[in-house]
Amino acid sequence: MNVPEIFDSMDYGPAPESAAEALAWLVDGGDRFGHFIDGAMTDAGDGFPSKNPATGEVLATITQATQGDVDAAVAAARKAQPKWAKLPGHARAKYLYALARLVQKHSRLLAVLETLDNGKPIRESRDIDVPLVARHFYYHAGMAQLMEAELPDREALGVCGQIIPWNFPLLMLAWKVAPAIAMGNTVVLKPAEYTSLTALLFADLCREAGLPKGVVNIVTGDGAVGEMIVGHDDIDKIAFTGSTEVGRAIRKATAGSGKALTLELGGKSPYIVFDDADMDSAIEGLVDAIWFNGGQVCCAGSRLLVQEGIADRFHDKLKRRMDGLRLGDPLDKCIDVGAIVDPAQLDRITAMVKTTAGDVHHAACAMPAGGCFYPPTLISGLEAADPLMQEEIFGPVLVSTTFRTPAEAVQLANNTRYGLAASVWSENVNLALDVAPKLVAGVVWVNGTNMFDAAAGFGGVRESGFGREGGWEGLAAYTRPATETKALKPVTAVAAPKDASVDGLDRTAKLYIGGKQARPDGGYSRPVWSPKGKLLGHAPIGNRKDLRNAVEAARGAAGWSKSTGHLRAQILYYLAENLSARADEFAGRLHDMTGAGAKAADAEVAASVSRLFSSAAWADKYDGAAKGVPLRGLAVAVNEPVGVIGAFCADDAPLLGLVSVLGAALAMGNRLVAVASEPYPLAATDFYQLLETSDVPAGVANIVTGSHQELAPQLAGHMDVDAVWSFSSSDISGVIEREAAGNLKRTWVNNGRNTDWSAAEGRTWLAAATEVKTVWVPYGE
Ligand code: NAI
Repeated sequence: MNVPEIFDSMDYGPAPESAAEALAWLVDGGDRFGHFIDGAMTDAGDGFPSKNPATGEVLATITQATQGDVDAAVAAARKAQPKWAKLPGHARAKYLYALARLVQKHSRLLAVLETLDNGKPIRESRDIDVPLVARHFYYHAGMAQLMEAELPDREALGVCGQIIPWNFPLLMLAWKVAPAIAMGNTVVLKPAEYTSLTALLFADLCREAGLPKGVVNIVTGDGAVGEMIVGHDDIDKIAFTGSTEVGRAIRKATAGSGKALTLELGGKSPYIVFDDADMDSAIEGLVDAIWFNGGQVCCAGSRLLVQEGIADRFHDKLKRRMDGLRLGDPLDKCIDVGAIVDPAQLDRITAMVKTTAGDVHHAACAMPAGGCFYPPTLISGLEAADPLMQEEIFGPVLVSTTFRTPAEAVQLANNTRYGLAASVWSENVNLALDVAPKLVAGVVWVNGTNMFDAAAGFGGVRESGFGREGGWEGLAAYTRPATETKALKPVTAVAAPKDASVDGLDRTAKLYIGGKQARPDGGYSRPVWSPKGKLLGHAPIGNRKDLRNAVEAARGAAGWSKSTGHLRAQILYYLAENLSARADEFAGRLHDMTGAGAKAADAEVAASVSRLFSSAAWADKYDGAAKGVPLRGLAVAVNEPVGVIGAFCADDAPLLGLVSVLGAALAMGNRLVAVASEPYPLAATDFYQLLETSDVPAGVANIVTGSHQELAPQLAGHMDVDAVWSFSSSDISGVIEREAAGNLKRTWVNNGRNTDWSAAEGRTWLAAATEVKTVWVPYGE
């Protein structure tokens, strides 16, 4: 090509990055890699090849871990953990800092190896993945340093099993390992089978940093090894990033085991372009949203929603831009789109696109002769319900439809089982900031896309999983309250006395649903006896239909979630005032039902009044945060209500248990379906009168009585419930976690341990009652 021709096409020549150093590192490793266990590499065992997807060349052989390998890694992590957690935060901080420095020192080697193994363009691994990895270790070095001062009542969970995907191999490792070890946990990490090499290079960095043996352990292999980690008895927490399908299987597999769990799963994130958007910026944003890492990004802006009036012009411009994208050798610094990670993934993408009846535009860019490549693709003219509008393609394929009004944009955006991320493009800040809170997503970017930082929480709602990574909120996933808990003995109802006498008066309580007292659907009730043999009344036996009605009422009371904290505070204060006015009556009821002494009964009522005051106090004070991210903008963490919470109340604290749940849930704007203490339900049924007289809107708080064992699977399996909590003394934690897998609702269960009621006024409860939405807004230069 001569100079005039170059001027004519404005094309640039290849600028390949050398693979020599990375290939030399592979040769040094003997081309066959074992696992990193207890500070040393094990001998390589039977395994499988790891290939360069751009060429098909074998880079190395990876060992498939055996159960023995996983056991050894867990044992090493267990042995190292107490000592690691006991180190002063400053000592742990120095190791994390050393790792950050080493990532920077070896950044080019890491970037090249990542690109060879995964197929992503070197521009991305060099400028995005690896710098973010270093940032993550720096940031969490700070968290280790600050833990004692800022999180004095939290402690490490223990040994964490971490399973990561292939799309950001090293970055996902950093997201998992840095917060875990900062908080005093030790880890057993499994990289994805396609992309284990940078994790193995990271093992070298751990040794170079002098990290104590056993703090980080890395085992390689496929999903079977993941299952061994998930099922291991001596692991305290599982952190998983990957497909929703596997996430759901892990939720079921860990149900009832007592293991903590966080899931970062799939998405079908909307990219909303209003007609007043800066079109060129929105097009460039879209290139980042869907062609960054070949669309193999969980939060990829894979669903374009463009306002009707500009749709034709936007699509035309987009096609022109797509045609100019450069696809090819990922090591070439001029390449925009690299290789697909593996032929299996390429086949999946190809097969999905083949099914469509939409208008398909493949970018006109030149395709490499070999390797695993798929062209940037736009599919337009799809209906909202089209499978390709709903299913994650996980490749460089954008689907598109149009909308007319902001309300329709919101409706289309939320028409998905996922809730990971969303982008909103408009030059009208009023419009963009009006739409952002209406989007059901864990992350919203305003006039931007795919921005990430260690300080900003990342994670989803709905079937995109639960838990956050990054920021202060991400630490909750790697710590627990430091208070000791004891095994909770089942509390059973007082049996009918032999010489039971009935006074003839009908004192049958009802359920409380939609602001009204309602008879139970089944028409059955059970007598409630005092320990002295007195009949105190009858409590209804609620069933599946009653729960359904209660959930429907709670769903309908959506206005509560939009109300101000100030309004919610006033109502909770009023509730407290009304309880206080009838303190003697409630104390008498507790005394009669449970046999508690007068002092203990008075104390439970006083604690309940105080709890409602605390909830009211927090209602307008559990603020979010503005995170100073090192990009042009602010990441604003907003605490949003979870939605509809179903809660099994404590059996042993019939009033305080109900009030604690109700206070935290309502204060944060949730609607509640509470199942009262099973043996002592009458404190809850008395409470209806307070709800009726305290301006709590109908449907916001619903109360059902009945058997926890029978109601647990129903409530946990209900698709319109967003979270389920349990403080019950019945053995229902496992069934709740298992049934919750259906729509991946978040759970908070006691696993048969008692509850620290003093902590119920604090941030742990408020955090359980909220989801952090991170809204990235342009701000400053
Ligand atoms: P995957 O979810 O199967 O794999 C992710 C990780 O989980 C890997 O380390 C894998 O070895 C491990 N794993 C697989 N089965 C497991 C099990 N039963 N128990 C424990 N660990 C297990 O994802 P895959 O098959 O690689 O990709 C399939 C689809 O998943 C993609 O096309 C994409 O739609 C989605 N995906 C989503 C990701 C995200 O970040 N949201 C990341 C990777 C894939």
